[in-house]
Amino acid sequence: MAQFPIQRMRRLREHPTMRRMTQETRLSPSDFIYPLFVTHGRNVKQEVSAMPGVHQISLDHLIHEVEEVAELGIPAVLLFGIPAKKDGVGTEAYETNGIVQEAIRVVKQASPETLVITDVCLCEYTDHGHCGIVAGGTVDNDQTLDLLGQMAVSHAEAGADIVAPSAMMDGQVGAIRAALDRAGFKNTSIMGYSAKYASGFYGPFRVAADSAPQFGDRRGYQMDSSNVRQAMREIEQDIEEGADMIMVKPALAYLDVISKAKERFDYPLAAYNVSGEYSMVKAAAENEWIDGQRVAMEILTAIKRAGADMVITYHAKEASGWLRANGRS
Ligand code: PBG
Repeated sequence: MAQFPIQRMRRLREHPTMRRMTQETRLSPSDFIYPLFVTHGRNVKQEVSAMPGVHQISLDHLIHEVEEVAELGIPAVLLFGIPAKKDGVGTEAYETNGIVQEAIRVVKQASPETLVITDVCLCEYTDHGHCGIVAGGTVDNDQTLDLLGQMAVSHAEAGADIVAPSAMMDGQVGAIRAALDRAGFKNTSIMGYSAKYASGFYGPFRVAADSAPQFGDRRGYQMDSSNVRQAMREIEQDIEEGADMIMVKPALAYLDVISKAKERFDYPLAAYNVSGEYSMVKAAAENEWIDGQRVAMEILTAIKRAGADMVITYHAKEASGWLRANGRS
């Protein structure tokens, strides 16, 4: 390799067009998946505390949201529901007329080209706030699998394109694949939340989705943040059980996990730029401690550079707008 002064790295940086031409990672609206929180009622648009720009919305507002998302070139939304009632077994999670099932129909009607991804997990629907059935003071893995299967089928019946199990129950991808196939939904895809860590970064989401556990925490099923080799085993298992796409979550504190997963598995890889990551940027930007747009774009670029093919992010709409304004989308 040639050395200085023959080689001068700054030659590639001097001219803005040269910088653009030699960019190794380019963000585009097609990289993004936009999460949405849907709730019962009409004309509800309630901003989530700690997440400026993110709202719980009723189905009438959902129509406008989805049209905007499609117009910006964002290919998919990820739906979360706030149910009318919660109980021990999360009944509304798998009801034909549950809030998410209704929302799926609305999205498909408003914008057939937009892909609908649904979160398959019971924590928003149970009164105890855990991701499955609680028995003997713990979350019972195998009893929960049946309900996750039912939930996924109810989403597929309503028209979901991709179901995304996030409960971190062992065998959940296999159970859902079997349930979908039995019900005739052979072409409904599964995006596994394969390596999902027990994380402090989910704090604002739990307010948005009203899903904080009422006792204990999720460390008995979500991964320990110190582990990366275990994440590879989680992903491997999801693939063996039939996942079409895999995910690492959160993103920013887990770029090494994203990068390793990318090297190791030839499957579409999503990374979830979670609520707390978003809130930190917004809070610091509001204080004028950082330039919010610049930092958000730097973070999204880093997640893609690490290896994510898809980035689930609350910044999706604004980032797509910025890309368009800069003529780079
Ligand atoms: C449901 C779920 C959670 C998130 C996505 N799906 C919360 C949790 O596991 O506690 C977090 C997303 C975010 O923080 O943006 N289990």
